[in-house]
Amino acid sequence: MPGAWSHLAARFFDFITSPGLRPDEVARVEEWLAGRPSALRAFFGQPRADQRHAYEAAVSVAEAAPGRPDLVRAALLHDVGKRHANLGAVGRVLATLAIRLRLPLTPRWRLYRDHGRLAAAELGDEEPVVIEFARHHQIGRPPTIPAADWDILASADRARLHVGRRDR
Ligand SMILES: [Fe+2]
Ligand SMILES: [Fe+2]
Repeated sequence: MPGAWSHLAARFFDFITSPGLRPDEVARVEEWLAGRPSALRAFFGQPRADQRHAYEAAVSVAEAAPGRPDLVRAALLHDVGKRHANLGAVGRVLATLAIRLRLPLTPRWRLYRDHGRLAAAELGDEEPVVIEFARHHQIGRPPTIPAADWDILASADRARLHVGRRDR
């Protein structure tokens, strides 16, 4: 349990201290999502910390799997569902605790819990791996995503904010 608390604390501080994307990073996202106006809107509609997390995940996927823009987009877009819950740092901690402790959830906490399914629903025009990773990233690999692709995506999702932290 101490590990769980420190993980929660780390996510809290990530959320309030994450630097926004720099112009060159914004340009890279725009390139990865070129011609996809609704994906771009969803990505940039996220709070700063979620943009940072998704960007870092995408960079690590681009390094691990060159020539796989579909996997890069899966990393970029997997958490876009969280924005519908519209929770700040404290709200996210409370939602996470309530979910873990199986307490009754408010409607916004429920949206937060279901962010993978929400993202999958709004990403219906994207490549299958983008939709499937969004839907399953909190649960586990579905048969539709090959193990090698899943490992790349899941480890990029876990590597939280390392690049962004380097210079602060
Ligand atoms: Fe997520
Ligand atoms: Fe994530």
